[in-house]
Amino acid sequence: MRTRMYYIVTRLNVTRLIFIVILMYAASLVYTYNARLHSIRSQRKDISYTNHKSLKYILQWTNRFALPLNTMGEGNSVFVKGKCKYTNCYVTDDKEYFLDQTEFDAVVFGGLDAMNLWSFQLPYNRSPRQKYIFAASESADNNPVCSPMYNDFFNWTWTYRIDSDLYWGYVIIYDLDDNVVGPAVDMKWLDKMNPIVEELKSKLLSKSKTAAWFVSHCSTNGGRELYVKELQKELDVYKLNVDVYGGCGTLSCPRDDEAFCFKKLEDDYYFYLSFENSFAEDYVTEKLLNALNNYAIPIVYGTANYSRFLPPGSYLDALALGPKELAHQMNEILTNRSKYHDFFRWRNHYRYGPSHPVEEVCKLCTMLNNPDKVSQVTVWKDFDRWWNGKEYAHNCLTHWWSW
Ligand SMILES: *[C@@H]1O[C@H](CO)[C@@H](O)[C@H](O)[C@H]1NC(C)=O
Ligand SMILES: *[C@@H]1O[C@H](CO)[C@@H](O)[C@H](O)[C@H]1NC(C)=O
Ligand SMILES: *[C@@H]1O[C@H](CO)[C@@H](O)[C@H](O)[C@H]1NC(C)=O
Repeated sequence: MRTRMYYIVTRLNVTRLIFIVILMYAASLVYTYNARLHSIRSQRKDISYTNHKSLKYILQWTNRFALPLNTMGEGNSVFVKGKCKYTNCYVTDDKEYFLDQTEFDAVVFGGLDAMNLWSFQLPYNRSPRQKYIFAASESADNNPVCSPMYNDFFNWTWTYRIDSDLYWGYVIIYDLDDNVVGPAVDMKWLDKMNPIVEELKSKLLSKSKTAAWFVSHCSTNGGRELYVKELQKELDVYKLNVDVYGGCGTLSCPRDDEAFCFKKLEDDYYFYLSFENSFAEDYVTEKLLNALNNYAIPIVYGTANYSRFLPPGSYLDALALGPKELAHQMNEILTNRSKYHDFFRWRNHYRYGPSHPVEEVCKLCTMLNNPDKVSQVTVWKDFDRWWNGKEYAHNCLTHWWSW
């Protein structure tokens, strides 16, 4: 009887027991790891900046696994692997790397985390020699940094805003010799762009469908989904429509096979909806490249000044036109071949590509090696106004949490 009872109890608990053992083992691994890390790091404390003048030390103040800091790696690995021009930069997130935090050359704050810091969580000791850097890739609308404690705080900004000290956008514009020419605040496009060649004309003959939109976030701050609804109604008048692929539409395109979807876009569609999910100055993402690099005319939606990103006559601006006029113009383009062809003239002069995170991190090291830039005293005085731009009131005054 007793053995039987014992047997039942054991049977019931054996899974639980195994689970607990595994958990304890995992906990002990984590503990050992942390203890070792701590012991290694505490030994390093005697490193002093003065002994390592040739290195530029960069401290990641906020979570190193969050965008965009997650591309910076540890130590100088990213600079070496990325074959950067300068490899003498050293990244760590260990605030106690030196005895004194003022020994770091630069301290980087990731936007998403900076947004949630309290003032007592900021560095307590600062040298005027150091560069405090704000880094962000999310739009100000989704990443509103409103606290006045950041005014007069950052020396450099490293964001998609073109007027940042270090521009880290999504889109890079090249001339046909591969020189970077844009985007730029006062972008100078060629006055005259040549007509497209016959080869391109025949390539474009395969197209037969109006517009495509690949989308997975159905409800956005910018309200693009409502706009598309209106646009569909207006297109109806001309018996045209937008094919919506992905979670928010009726068509599907395998997410794990991007190349297949882009081929479809290239072969079949006249237009592509490069609709941003939120409104912020200069916030233009790789959605623009989906259109441009797949021979579709981009229909843009956002509050960037698009003339900084696209030559005149190469795109349609959904917000500026409104759904009715946009539908009208789409129809005009579809019924006038030469008008349609003119949208591709830019191809005779420019090329578009995505930015590469490692190259962007290289740029930071290059800048830290530029004595003029480093010794120049620069401060972002009204940081909250600058970062949020025209959306300041919307981003910073309407949400209780941003007070
Ligand atoms: C947009 O940028 C262009 C320069 O690229 C400038 O001429 C124009 O005034 C800007 N428009 C607005 C509304 O700021
Ligand atoms: C077609 O568009 C061109 C401009 O690209 C214009 O000059 C021409 O008049 C248009 N043709 C028709 C039939 O509307
Ligand atoms: C960095 O900003 C701080 C705070 O405004 C300022 O005191 C310091 O002089 C600046 N240093 C550099 C090198 O720009």
